[in-house]
Amino acid sequence: MEREITAFAPASVSNVACGFDIMGFALDQPGDTVTARVVKSPGVRIKSITGSTSSLPTDPALNTAAAPVAALLKHCKATLGVELEISKGVPVGGGIGSSAASAVAAAVACNALLELDLTKEELLPFAIEGEKIASDAIHVDNLSPSLWGGFILVRGYKPIDIVQIEAPRDIWCTVIHPHIEIQTKASRKLLPKSVPLADLVTQTGNAAGLVAGLLKQDYALIGRSLHDVVAEPARSHMIPGFANMKAAALDAGALGCSISGSGPSVFALSITKETADKVGASMRKVLDSLACPNTVFVSRICSNGARIIS
Ligand code: HSE
Repeated sequence: MEREITAFAPASVSNVACGFDIMGFALDQPGDTVTARVVKSPGVRIKSITGSTSSLPTDPALNTAAAPVAALLKHCKATLGVELEISKGVPVGGGIGSSAASAVAAAVACNALLELDLTKEELLPFAIEGEKIASDAIHVDNLSPSLWGGFILVRGYKPIDIVQIEAPRDIWCTVIHPHIEIQTKASRKLLPKSVPLADLVTQTGNAAGLVAGLLKQDYALIGRSLHDVVAEPARSHMIPGFANMKAAALDAGALGCSISGSGPSVFALSITKETADKVGASMRKVLDSLACPNTVFVSRICSNGARIIS
């Protein structure tokens, strides 16, 4: 039988309101599964893409799962090739790290398949090759939670400096995904080119407050910090019913609510699953009233990142 390895990588919520490009956390579900198989012909081939979409490119040069594998093959000067079967659980263009989950699952599967023994730190640059296809700018706020799991702070980019923050286990995340697609590249074009000093002060105060709140398990501080004065005002108009969904989430008891990544998904954090479910139902009512099909995910912050499943 041909040698093959299957890996799973979770979806993630990035930005987390106040941490544009520098914060993210992994969800338990959904996630992407990638099976990598050794084949004789060199290079990467995508055998199939199934699941939440079938419209992703199968051209390896344009596919976020194939790019890390191509880079890994080049790195180890392989003469053989790798064939990929991609099963998408994460909605494409949904704002919960779809491209990152595919890139990470493929990198992790290929690392094991080729017995490269690269650490997660060493694998990250290869996963970045996949994310580059989805976004013009390098950002690892979806890739790193998907790879490591948990709540991640990207302390810096030059060089990349990842810090895993221990988040309280009783925090639950609600994500509502309106069934529209927003490409990260397009969503980034909406962002301001510069930020007023007063907004910088507000945003850094909130980012620091969120980290302190997570570490101190101070839920009121977490709630006070979940505000975004940079990306949310520039992007929220793309999301049907955003203001009403946010108000409904807060009314239902969420600590805070904002755009997940580059949208269109919206996330809220709550202290109990019961509240997180109630928040999901309240946000869903808003989208249902607009006849906007949607999916709600309720999950803890997942402490496990990508892993080999077979
Ligand atoms: N931080 C990135 C952005 C995440 O907001 O553009 C993209 O999913």
